[in-house]
Amino acid sequence: MLEQLNSIEQEGLAALEAVNDSAALEAWRVKYLGRSAPLANILGDLGKLSKEERPLVGKRGNEVKRALEAALEAKTEALRQAEMEQAMTAGAVDVTLPGRPVVRGRLHPATIGLRLLYNVFAEMGFQIFRSREVESDEFNFELLNIPAHHPARDMWDTFHTSTPGVILRTHTSPGQIRAMRELGENGAKPIRVILPGMCYRYEQITARSEIQFLQIEGLAVGKGIRMTDLKGTLTEMARRMYGASVRTRFRADHFPFTEPSAEMDVECFVCGGKGCGVCKQSGWLEILGCGMVHPTVLKNGGYDPSVYSGFAFGMGPQRVVMLMHGITDIRYFLQNDVRFLEQF
Ligand code: PHE
Repeated sequence: MLEQLNSIEQEGLAALEAVNDSAALEAWRVKYLGRSAPLANILGDLGKLSKEERPLVGKRGNEVKRALEAALEAKTEALRQAEMEQAMTAGAVDVTLPGRPVVRGRLHPATIGLRLLYNVFAEMGFQIFRSREVESDEFNFELLNIPAHHPARDMWDTFHTSTPGVILRTHTSPGQIRAMRELGENGAKPIRVILPGMCYRYEQITARSEIQFLQIEGLAVGKGIRMTDLKGTLTEMARRMYGASVRTRFRADHFPFTEPSAEMDVECFVCGGKGCGVCKQSGWLEILGCGMVHPTVLKNGGYDPSVYSGFAFGMGPQRVVMLMHGITDIRYFLQNDVRFLEQF
């Protein structure tokens, strides 16, 4: 009987060596460890043995059983490993290949410029006011002190719609009237807003001018607001955008909706004011138009110009970005060329 157990063990372990897939493994398990395997029969019939034989055969039988079980477990694990390795080397996945780079979206340079300016003005107490892009002739011109047939209209070549009197705004200034009327509580409440958005002009497209472009309008209305407030606010804006030591200058200009009117230049930060290609040798860069809100415009916004005063300005954030990065052509902003866009 013990002889038989020894040979079951030897034969079983030898047969397991030859097993190399899970079907063969299962067949092996049934043959050597199954319920009707010779080993199971011997252990099941222990009761039929003599008193002397029984403990010896029982002990040896259990040893053989444990040895076969341990070998089965080891083989199962070895087969699993082998299958995994095969799957990987068969070309299913080459885990050593570098991954494909993930292409990330990013902000448009114009959006970056807008957000820089939003921050600067927010810190000075300006709220953002959104005004419409499709405007009426009345708000875009009339209420801004530009009557029909006035030669000043030549400054803003206009896209008209098929509905008479409905146009695309040529500047963000009509938002001044809307902000005063909507936020001013019938001329009783001071306001401080910036109005960002698209404007449209029916013009020749060149490196310097697009038919569609961004503006940021600024408007502050209150009691006792003076030209010095305008200068201080805009000079501080320039310092925060271009550095604390940047110099600014105001030149007299004309807009029908401000009086007096001015244009602000900043010292050319490319050459430091010495004169270069970017500033066309002048040492200065023109960045915005501004002025004290015209009494007629204040009145049209619901304020009494003998009590209230205000300042306004309008700037092109794309131009601000162009100057910051030395971009020479405004048309890049709308071309959607990733070679341009991915540089920011
Ligand atoms: N709206 C003017 C323009 O588009 C700019 C401006 C705004 C000037 C506000 C003065 C005050 O040219």
